[in-house]
Parts: sequence; structure tokens; C-alpha cells
Amino acid sequence: MGKITAAITGIQGWVPEDVLTNKDFEKMVDTTEEWIMTRTGIKERHIQKGKGKATSDMAVEAVIGLLKKTNTKPEEVELLICATVTPDMIHPATANIISDKAGIKNAFSFDMNAACSGFLFALVTASKFIEAGGYKKIIVVGADKMSSITDYTDRTTCVLFGDAAGAVMLEPSTEGYGILDSSTHADGSGRIYLHQKAGGSLKPASHETVDAHEHFIYQEGQAVFKFAVTRMADVAAEIMERNQLASDDIAYLVPHQANMRIIDATARRMGINKDKVMINIERYGNTTNATIPMCLYEWENKLKKGDNLILAAFGGGFTWGSIYLKWAYEAK
Ligand code: ACO
Repeated sequence: MGKITAAITGIQGWVPEDVLTNKDFEKMVDTTEEWIMTRTGIKERHIQKGKGKATSDMAVEAVIGLLKKTNTKPEEVELLICATVTPDMIHPATANIISDKAGIKNAFSFDMNAACSGFLFALVTASKFIEAGGYKKIIVVGADKMSSITDYTDRTTCVLFGDAAGAVMLEPSTEGYGILDSSTHADGSGRIYLHQKAGGSLKPASHETVDAHEHFIYQEGQAVFKFAVTRMADVAAEIMERNQLASDDIAYLVPHQANMRIIDATARRMGINKDKVMINIERYGNTTNATIPMCLYEWENKLKKGDNLILAAFGGGFTWGSIYLKWAYEAK
């Protein structure tokens, strides 16, 4: 029997119906459609509206769709990891809430918080459970209701984010499909450039923190941009070199969707043409943990068994990483 690797055997994405366009932002803050498009590549983003609607509700849509699509009974799932920065509550973990709502009763579950690299880190973590043997069905879901931590009076951040969820099924392969290599990194000194000031143990919620808008994303865009553009390109190039992959060997680059200019720089560094880069930032914006699974979901029908994919992400923390993945199936 060959070495056990963790293969993606199904994927499902979900976005809420409501859309915020660049034109809408012109009425909300001092901005223009043109500035947003040229500086970020975003045209519109989906927003989850309605009282009582949380990240878990989007994730459950993706997870239930995934179970149906892969013909999996909820009780067969052994582990569910939810990557999110917008948990329903600080505790318990949103993963527990998703499992409960989706009828997944035999799995243990936990959240992963690595900002925009969370889905990639969760995929690497889940793959280790499969590779160690014993685990046959793991769900990794990336979901974020970014609208719940976005300050819609701050033009420098509000245009960037959207809401979405995406889930993948991981199963063992002994034929060399799935996650074949990964490189993951973190540098906590980057926290000064991208964080939420209040709501944690450092600064619990108070009238003052709410009045000061400290429960929203704080980002020094230019500083984050500089790190993101080099780190994401470097780590993707490192994975290619380590696995002796030339640009022609790669079917698709699957980058985190934070800014079109960061995606372009990564593709250039890897020598990959734009037609081999999964890009949907114009329709969804930065959905944090959902960007990579949403790309895989939308490209699923184009993927062929054996395709080499490079996943790459950069996010708050700072966190960054890349995965070399051999696609395991052709969509029916
Ligand atoms: N409309 C019009 N003008 C704006 C807007 C806007 N929406 N936002 C900012 N500006 C202005 C600024 O105020 C500034 O004006 P000034 O020169 O008078 O001060 C000017 O535009 C330039 O601002 P910059 O911040 O330098 O603009 P930049 O070109 O860097 O683009 C952006 C900003 C899009 C945020 C970019 O820096 C970026 O993408 N950064 C990286 C984001 C990222 O990768 N984040 C990590 C993942 S997110 C996560 O982990 C949760």
C-alpha cells in the first residue's frame, strides 16, 4: 500500500443573496467606483443580512451541500474544523455549532483562527490526521461574516470585505492524490498592522470600545500590502522549487483573494499566466477564510484528476502559507 495522503473528494461553496456594489459605497463613504476597482479589483461583495444570522448559518449551507454532493451521512464525519475570524460567539467554537446544526454527531470539532490563512492552515492540520491513519472523513470549512466586523464608515477597509462559506471533504488516498506538500508561517509582530482592538481579554467590550469603533477591523493597508505581496509570492515559489515544479506543470494557482495586485504579483513571480489563476475577487471581495474554497468550488468543473494546484494565502497575524495539491477527481 502506498503512503497515505489527504485528498479533497468534494467541495461546496455558499454566498448570501444580498450584494453591495461599488456604486453603493459611493453613497456611504467618500470613494469612487473607479478607485475601488483599480486599487483592489473588487466590483461587488455578498453580505449576510437578517437578524440572528451568523457565520455558522453560511457554513451549514456549505456543509449540508457537501454532505449531499459526496453522498456522506452526517454520522460518518469524524472531524470538522472551521476556519473563521468571525465566530458566532467567542466560545463555544463555531465548528461545534455547525456540527450540531448539520446533524454531525460523531465528530470532534474545533475552530482555527489564522485570519486569511486560516483555511489553508486548517487544511494542512486536517491532512495530518488523515496521514497518521485512522481518520477517513474530515470536513474543513472556511466561513466568515466579515460584514459583522467591518466599519462601514471607514473607507479604507469597508470596500474590501464580503461574506461567504466554503467546505471541502478530505479522505485518504493511497494513489498520490491530495495534499503533497505545504509550507506554513506566522510572525506575530505583524499584529500591529492588522487587528481588532477590543472584544478580547486585552480590552473587553465596554461603552467606550463600542463608541470608538474598536470592535471592527483595523488595518494599515499599505504596510500589510508590502508584506502580503512578498510573502505570498515567496512561499508559492518555495513550494514550486521544493517539488521541482515548473510553471507548465501547474494547472492552477489558487490564491487568497485580498487584492488583485497581490494576486498578479504572485502569479508573475511563479511565471503563471492569468488564465491559470483562479480569480473571483471582483464578485465577492475578500471573504477571508472562504476565498480559497470558493475558488475551488467555482472551478470544480474545469479541474481534472491529476491537476497540480498551488494554494497560497496571506493574512492577519501575520500568517502565510502555500500548499501543493494534486486534484483527486473529475466533477460529474
Ligand atoms: N476610496 C478612495 N480613497 C481611498 C479609499 C477608498 N475606498 N481607501 C483609501 N483611500 C485613500 C487613502 O485615504 C489614501 O489617501 P491619502 O493619500 O490622501 O492619505 C490613498 O487612498 C492611498 O491609500 P493607501 O492605503 O496607500 O492605498 P493602497 O493603494 O495601499 O490600497 C488597500 C489600500 C486596498 C487596503 C491595500 O493597501 C491592500 O490591499 N492592502 C493589503 C490587504 C491585505 O492583503 N490584507 C490581508 C488579508 S485581510 C485579513 O487577514 C483579515
